[in-house]
Amino acid sequence: MSQVFTGKNAIVTGGAGVIGMATAQRLVAGGARVALVDRDSDRLNANAAALDAGAAVAIVADVTKQAEVAAYAERAQRELGPIDIFFNNAGVEGPTALLDDYAEEDFEQVQAINVTGVFHGLKQVMPRMRDGGAIVITSSTAGLRGSPGFAGYTMSKHAVIGLMRTAAIEGAPRRIRVNCVHPAMVNSDMMQRIERDRGDPAAMHEKFLSRIPLGRYIEPDEVAALVCFLVSDDARMITGGQYLIDGGIML
Ligand SMILES: NC(=O)c1ccc[n+]([C@@H]2O[C@H](COP(=O)([O-])OP(=O)(O)OC[C@H]3O[C@@H](n4cnc5c(N)ncnc54)[C@H](O)[C@@H]3O)[C@@H](O)[C@H]2O)c1
Repeated sequence: MSQVFTGKNAIVTGGAGVIGMATAQRLVAGGARVALVDRDSDRLNANAAALDAGAAVAIVADVTKQAEVAAYAERAQRELGPIDIFFNNAGVEGPTALLDDYAEEDFEQVQAINVTGVFHGLKQVMPRMRDGGAIVITSSTAGLRGSPGFAGYTMSKHAVIGLMRTAAIEGAPRRIRVNCVHPAMVNSDMMQRIERDRGDPAAMHEKFLSRIPLGRYIEPDEVAALVCFLVSDDARMITGGQYLIDGGIML
């Protein structure tokens, strides 16, 4: 069943991407107004335009820059009002390279986006949230186990679990709940890039599929459904948790 978000204001980072957009669509369908944040202005504006008129604001920002994060949080609050829902979701996969070949600059860039960007978001958005609000951070099944060829990504997705737990404790006195989701392979440009980076895309696709007990990639809207449950009032006693959406891959 769809969730009700009437009168709620949301921020979604990675709003130009597939999981961010699918989540924004569900939030808007439930009655929320959404600030979509991303550094990719073309795709961001296209996504905002595709949502119901008046329901979305597009804000171009680089989540690695504290000043830009402060500016998106401030503008979202000014245009929408106090924030109820924060989907702290922007992220990159980084290169595919074994440790001995993984460039330090790439490693640092992945941490800057996937970890520091999430930290800046928590720091700037939490004070602008209404009591009783909810935050979801996008980790990954790579946040729960080693992933060869993915040192930077794997570390970053482990790291945000610590941020989530800390924010959940700090937010609890104001009933602000904070949780992580752990998707496995999602039907997305990100997975297509990963398949290409690893050589023969069709063969890689089959290899990844063979690891998924339920036999297919996850659709972005299926991640969005989990996120929207976690930020809804139905989840009002759920905080500090981690939720797999992985087709059984972690079994
Ligand atoms: N696609 C998957 O299979 C998968 C699986 C598990 C977790 N995830 C995570 O889900 C989240 C969303 O990814 P997606 O699948 O929608 O991929 P996507 O590439 O479609 O979306 C990611 C978005 O983040 C934005 N972004 C990257 N760096 C940014 C920065 N510095 N500032 C602002 N925006 C920035 C990109 O422009 C992009 O629009 C990411 O955190 C990703 O790691 C994805």
